[in-house]
Amino acid sequence: MTEATTTAEIPIRSAEESGVSKEQTIDPWSVDAGQDAEGNSLEFDYVAISKKWNTSLIDEALLERFEKVTGHKPHRWLRRGLFFSHRDFNRILDLHEKGETFFLYTGRGPSSGSMHIGHTIPFEFTKWLQDVFDVPCVIMLTDDEKALFKEDLTFEAVLQFAMDNAKDIISVGFDQKKTFIYSDLKYVAGHMLMNAWEFSKLLTFNQVRGAFGFNESTNCGRIFFPTVQCVAAFGTSYPALWSDNPGEERNPDVAAMQCLIPMAIDQDPYFRLLRDNAHRMARPSPKPALIHSRFLTALQGVGGKMSASNPNSAIFMSDTPGQIKKKINNHAFSGGRETLEMHRELGGNPDVDVPFQYLSYFEDDDEKLKKLEAEYRAGTLTSGEMKKECVTLLQAYVEGYQTRRKAVTDDVLAEYMRPRKMEWSRSDTIFKP
Ligand code: TRP
Repeated sequence: MTEATTTAEIPIRSAEESGVSKEQTIDPWSVDAGQDAEGNSLEFDYVAISKKWNTSLIDEALLERFEKVTGHKPHRWLRRGLFFSHRDFNRILDLHEKGETFFLYTGRGPSSGSMHIGHTIPFEFTKWLQDVFDVPCVIMLTDDEKALFKEDLTFEAVLQFAMDNAKDIISVGFDQKKTFIYSDLKYVAGHMLMNAWEFSKLLTFNQVRGAFGFNESTNCGRIFFPTVQCVAAFGTSYPALWSDNPGEERNPDVAAMQCLIPMAIDQDPYFRLLRDNAHRMARPSPKPALIHSRFLTALQGVGGKMSASNPNSAIFMSDTPGQIKKKINNHAFSGGRETLEMHRELGGNPDVDVPFQYLSYFEDDDEKLKKLEAEYRAGTLTSGEMKKECVTLLQAYVEGYQTRRKAVTDDVLAEYMRPRKMEWSRSDTIFKP
C-alpha cells in the first residue's frame, strides 16, 4: 500500500497485503505478531485488529477537523499514524468546539524501575493533548495489577516501581496544576473504591472472562482488577480534584464529565467493558472516548515490542549517550543491504529499518524525514548514516529528559501525587450555575 511512496507514514499493511494469515495475539498481558512458516517474526496487523475490535481508523477528515477545532497542527504521531485508531474522538472535538471541557486519563503498569522510550510515547502524547486542550489529566499507576499478574513481583516491590516511574512520568513535562498521578495501592479507597465495587456488581465473571480470557483457576484479584482500571475514567473517583467543597462530590455534573483515554491498543478490552456499562452506574457517566497507538518497534525489528526485561530490546530513559550509540549500532535491525555495493545499487528498505522507524517517531520535520526515506531507498544514504541520524536524535531526546528528571525531587513527586483541586481554564463549565 505504501511501497515507494514519498510520505514518511509508518505503513499499515493488512494481512492479505503482507501475504500472511497467521493469528496475532494482542491482549493486555501479551502481544505477539506471530511468525511465518520459517519462524520469522511478522509485523503487527493493525488494520485487522481495528476491524476485529470494531474501532475507527484515524483518517484525514478527522485530522482536518482536529486542526480546525483546536487551531493546532496534528502531532507527528497523528500525522504518521502511530496513533492510528479511536473510539468517539469526534465527541471530544464537539465538546471543545462548544467551549466545554473533559479530562484525560492514562496509566502505566509499573513492572520495573526503569522506563524506555516506548513507555514515554503515550505520556508524551497525553501531555501534548493536555497542552492543546488545556484540560486536567489523571495518571494511574497499576502497581496492584503488576503484583497480581507477575508471579515474581511483591506488592512492596511494585509500589516502589510506581514511585520511581512517577518521577519518570513527571519528567515528560506534565503541568503540575492540572495533573494528578497516583499509585493504585495507595489511592484506591473511598469514592474510587466504592465506584469499583459498584462497577463490579454490574459485571459477571463471564463478561470479564470473555474480555480477558480468564478461567476458573484465575486468582480473584485478577478478576476484580479490571473494575479498578475502568472506574478511573469516572470523574466521581476523584472528588478532591474538582472541588474544595466536599458536599459537591455528589454533584451529578462530575459524573457527567467526559473522559478521553490515550493508550496502546492492547488496553482496549478494558475500556470496551467500561463503555458498555458506564451508563448503568447510579450516577451514569458518558462512554469514554479512546485513542489508540501502535507498539513501538523493538530494536530487533518488526513484530516485537520493547521489553523492560530485555535491555537490548530498547533504549532506556536512563541510558548514556554511549549506550544509545552502541545499542543502535549493534542491535538495531537494519533495512540496508549486505554490502555497500549492493546498497548503492539496489537501495535500502526504510519500512523495516529500525533506525528509520525511530526517526519517524522522534523527528518532527516532515521534509527531512521524507528526504532520508527517499535517499535510503535510492541507496545514496547508507545504513551507517541512517544510524548516525537516529543516534543523534535519540541522544538529544534522552538528554533533555534526563535534565528534567534531575529536577524531580521527592517534594515535587509528593505534590503531583497529592489529591488537590485542579486548575484549568474551563473548570467552571463542570459546575454549571
Ligand atoms: N494496564 C496498563 C498497563 O499495564 C496501565 C493502565 C491503567 C493504563 N490505566 C490505563 C494504560 C489507561 C493506558 C490507559 O500498562
